[in-house]
Amino acid sequence: MDSESKVTKSRKIEHVNIVLTQDVQYKRITSMFNDVELVPTGKEVDPASVDTRSTFLESEISAPLFVSGMTGGDERVGKINYDIAAAVSELHLPMGVGSQRAMIEDKEMAKTYAVKSEYPDVLLMGNIGAAQVLKYKIDDISGMVSAIEADALCIHTNPAQEVAQREGDISFKGAFSAICKISDSIGVKTIVKEVGNGISKEVAKRFAGTSVYGIDTGGAGGTNWVAIELYRAGNAHLYKHIFREWGIPTAQSLIEARSEFKRMLTATGGIRSASDIAKAVALGADACGIAAPVVQAQSRNGSKGVYEYLSSLSSELRKEMARLGVSNVRELAHLETVLKGQLKDAVAQRLGSVPFTEYL
Ligand SMILES: Cc1cc2nc3c(=O)[nH]c(=O)nc-3n(C[C@H](O)[C@H](O)[C@H](O)COP(=O)(O)O)c2cc1C
Repeated sequence: MDSESKVTKSRKIEHVNIVLTQDVQYKRITSMFNDVELVPTGKEVDPASVDTRSTFLESEISAPLFVSGMTGGDERVGKINYDIAAAVSELHLPMGVGSQRAMIEDKEMAKTYAVKSEYPDVLLMGNIGAAQVLKYKIDDISGMVSAIEADALCIHTNPAQEVAQREGDISFKGAFSAICKISDSIGVKTIVKEVGNGISKEVAKRFAGTSVYGIDTGGAGGTNWVAIELYRAGNAHLYKHIFREWGIPTAQSLIEARSEFKRMLTATGGIRSASDIAKAVALGADACGIAAPVVQAQSRNGSKGVYEYLSSLSSELRKEMARLGVSNVRELAHLETVLKGQLKDAVAQRLGSVPFTEYL
């Protein structure tokens, strides 16, 4: 194993350990879902009759919810992917794996991502960074996707994380056309995702005119990747690092991206409750992704922990939808929405108007 491959493997383990042991969530920026009000329809709905099913990558899933890509690349973290797969296969929810860079560098590592070998029905998203798309051949990337039989490929754009990372790839020049080239030729749907700093309307607009199938906001307000990299580099004390609290909050990123991008759009970054999921769907998300709380649930109680966490979120969503007077996800998506406070100001500034009911 060469030294680059060793660094990639140990980084994946360090990331999981830091998320499990340190407070690396945003401190000042929130996902801004607190500035969203959903207006109940007044219809009486029995929670037992609520239909939470939704569509993801053109397949039916049991709720507008998925596990966002996190890990793989070393035997010590491969079990996390298999535990998540066991839970989501039972719950009929999609999942992503973490960056597959480690398996390009060391083919042996494919098994740490290839959860379909045990759970063939899982809707699975592969993952690679935009910085790696610039570096590797299209054949390496398509080989990596087919080796795990992924149904889609997520390409993460994470400039703030790379800047804070001691060994980060900080040049993204040419990334847009490299992503488009992959998207045109890879043979599976591609999704461009951030990892917690958000996608702006300008970025969404650029991808709207390409073959990229989906965008995942990866907005600010949840797990903070600059904080994680500062901690790894021994710089956790740099609490006031310029990028420590930086990014577009998830709710704002969602509204911005939806104004320009009409295909699959998902909300990730600080989604922590059924109420967040309901609000994100009403703002235009097709589904919501969750990362850190899932790996925390896995560390507490393996696949059972993940299953219990996700099924309780689904059943809370059912109750939340009944409370709002909607019977299915389509009705939820059309619910009257009110924006308040900082979110309303930010959206008015960025879009020129507030496309939702104003708060009185
Ligand atoms: C332990 C861990 C590892 C992650 N690794 C990756 C990765 O390899 N590739 C990626 O695109 N995102 C990665 N992410 C980012 C998540 O997919 C997600 O976008 C981000 O953590 C925000 O979601 P959260 O607030 O629910 O954690 C990782 C997240 C966690 C918690």
